[in-house]
Amino acid sequence: MNDKTKIIAVSGKGGVGKTSISAAFVRLLAERKPDAKILAIDADPAIGLSTALGVDVKTTLDDIRKGIVTSVEDGRPKEAIEMLSEARYRIIDSLIEERSFSFLAIGRPEGAGCYCKVNAYLKEVISLLAGDFDYVVIDGEAGIEQINRRVMEKVTHLVLVTDPSRKGTQVVQTIKRVADEMVMYERCGAIINRVSDPGALAYIHIEGVPILATIEDDRAHASNDIRGLSVFELPEDAPVMRGAAEALEKLEIL
Ligand SMILES: Nc1ncnc2c1ncn2[C@@H]1O[C@H](COP(=O)(O)OP(=O)(O)O)[C@@H](O)[C@H]1O
Ligand SMILES: [Mg+2]
Repeated sequence: MNDKTKIIAVSGKGGVGKTSISAAFVRLLAERKPDAKILAIDADPAIGLSTALGVDVKTTLDDIRKGIVTSVEDGRPKEAIEMLSEARYRIIDSLIEERSFSFLAIGRPEGAGCYCKVNAYLKEVISLLAGDFDYVVIDGEAGIEQINRRVMEKVTHLVLVTDPSRKGTQVVQTIKRVADEMVMYERCGAIINRVSDPGALAYIHIEGVPILATIEDDRAHASNDIRGLSVFELPEDAPVMRGAAEALEKLEIL
C-alpha cells in the first residue's frame, strides 16, 4: 500500500448529510489537487453518491463479486491470490473515470448474507486499490456496522457527521469508541450539519472528537438534491462546500 494515500471515510447516522459531504470532498479534491488520483467509493447499499457526483454506474462491486463466485462455481476453482488479482483487474476495468476522479459503488446486495460478503470484499478492495490512488473518499453506510466489521480498518481520516440532534451525536460517540479499536485512523473529527439554531451548538460536546466544521441548514442544497443536481452544480460558496473545505483544511488534507 502506498503509505501516503489518504483514505477519508465519512460515517454517521442515516440522513445527516454523509453523502452530501462525501461528494463535496470529492469535488474539492478534484478541483484543488488536479494532478492527484482520486477514488470515490459509495459504500452505502442505500446508494446516493453516484447521483451526488453525477456519475452513471454500470457495474458494482457486488456484480463483480457475483461474477467471480460464479466462475468458481462453474468448476474453475481459483486460488485466493488469483481471485484477488482477477478482482483487481475487473474492478479497475469497471471504475468510472469522470472529471478527474474514479468511482466505485458496492451496489445493493440482496439479503443479509450477501451484504456481509460484499462488506468483506470491500475491505479487501480498499487495501487492494488504495495504493493506486492518492485520495480515497468513502461514503459509508449509516451506523457502526462497517466500522465494527473492520471494513474501514485502513481508513486514515475518519469524518463523523451529525445533525444537532442528541441521537446523531450519540451515534458519533459510539462510532468513535468502536473506531478506536477497529480503525487505524490518524485523524478523526466531526462535522455538525444542518444547524438552524447556532445557539444549539453550545450543547454539543462529543468526547474526544474535535468539531471540524458546522454547516447551516441550507434550503438551496435540499432543493438541488430533490432536483437530482450534482455537487458540481452547487455554487463554490454553498454552505456544504464551505463546511467540507473547512473540515479538510483542519485535517491538513487541503
Ligand atoms: N446542510 C444541509 N441543508 C439542507 N439540507 C441538507 C443539508 N445536508 C444534507 N441535506 C439534505 O438532507 C438529506 C440527507 O442528506 P444526505 O447527504 O443524503 O445524508 P446521508 O447520506 O447521511 O443519508 C438530503 O435530502 C440532503 O439534500
Ligand atoms: Mg447517504
